[in-house]
Amino acid sequence: MDLSLTEEQRLVQKTAADFARNEVAPLAAELDRSHRHPKELVARMAELGFLGIAVPEKYGGAGLDTVAYVLALEEISRACASTGVIMSVNNSLVCDPILKFGTEEQKERWLKPLAAGRMLGCFALSEPEAGSDAAAQKTLARRDGQGWVINGVKNWITNGPVADVCILHCMTDPPGPERGHKAISSFILPMNLPGVRCGPPDRKLGIRASQSCQIFLDEVRLGPEHLLGEVGQGFKIAMTTLDGGRIGIAAQAVGIARAAYEDAARYALQRRTFGQPIANHQSIQWKLADMATEIDAARLLTLQAAVLKDRGVRHTKESAMAKLFASEVANRAAREGVQIFGGNGYVEDYPAERHFRDAKITEIYEGTSEIMRMVIAGAILKE
Ligand code: CAA
Repeated sequence: MDLSLTEEQRLVQKTAADFARNEVAPLAAELDRSHRHPKELVARMAELGFLGIAVPEKYGGAGLDTVAYVLALEEISRACASTGVIMSVNNSLVCDPILKFGTEEQKERWLKPLAAGRMLGCFALSEPEAGSDAAAQKTLARRDGQGWVINGVKNWITNGPVADVCILHCMTDPPGPERGHKAISSFILPMNLPGVRCGPPDRKLGIRASQSCQIFLDEVRLGPEHLLGEVGQGFKIAMTTLDGGRIGIAAQAVGIARAAYEDAARYALQRRTFGQPIANHQSIQWKLADMATEIDAARLLTLQAAVLKDRGVRHTKESAMAKLFASEVANRAAREGVQIFGGNGYVEDYPAERHFRDAKITEIYEGTSEIMRMVIAGAILKE
């Protein structure tokens, strides 16, 4: 597979790296401590075209591709994992399904402002009792003339408290054992409708500046123009969307792993024990060597999945592999980063403990590592 970057992709990578270093990194510790939504960084990402990177320009996007998207996302997540996931959700889980399944009217009405960053989106699939088992939806859209009335609760919705629009998945028929995932449909839900209410932001272990919450839907009325795709197509829309989303989370994980590794490598050259920098000790060198090797491998898997997505080839297995591996690499790198920092890794004065906390979620959201292994096994056993 040819993974050489085009001029344009390199330019996006450099622009993202400059933005991340000069504007995102200086705020990351404060954002983490205050759990504050980085409104100013989201506005800058909109200006830079980072909120709809792979969306064609005619729909408000940057008109680039998934490879450019993962390159930018890695750089931004290297500086701040919270800012990274805000960007990832808007691109992968909101713009992408509207681009793929939306009507022309929906693209004009919703995709344009979302891709241009004039609106921010969220994606609601999970429920209190439907996380890994995504088909076990209880939220129900009942028919009301041509439209729908929706009731239910959605959980852990990233960007929920700050979103203008939600890609909502729920049952559209009375759920029954014989219908299962075929009764799920997707909707474009404006968050300011009567009956839509956000719970308080979740108090989280990591990615604390990325706000998430429960969304309560109480007799929410939607016209037929809000249906995304066809009735009963919602589970496939959600799964296809997550095939792309997992590439984004893999890129975010590579960014976190790089942060842990680069910070630890710099520290190891400065910190001295037994009369020399700890980087001279083999025990530290081996840790750094493993971190660097795994990060390259994780990035290659991520780029492979991105290239397949750009070619229009099904990438369910490859994106699951990329997310599984990259998220586990992020957690190993963050753990070793804390170890290299020693006592300084355990206190808030240094960023190592933030990377350690931020890494964990990458093994959980958009499909846990256990679900990734199920998806990969399901695919390879069919090959
Ligand atoms: N692409 C297209 N179609 C797919 C698909 C995919 N990737 N995966 C499954 N399907 C289709 C299947 O082909 C099947 O269709 P047919 O009936 O026509 O054959 C149908 O969907 C049902 O498939 P399964 O029988 O495999 O479904 P399942 O109920 O066993 O579930 C699962 C499969 C992989 C476990 C799925 O439930 C899953 O991915 N769970 C994890 C959910 C998840 O990732 N949640 C994340 C929430 S979003 C989030 O975290 C966002 C955030 O805030 C950042």
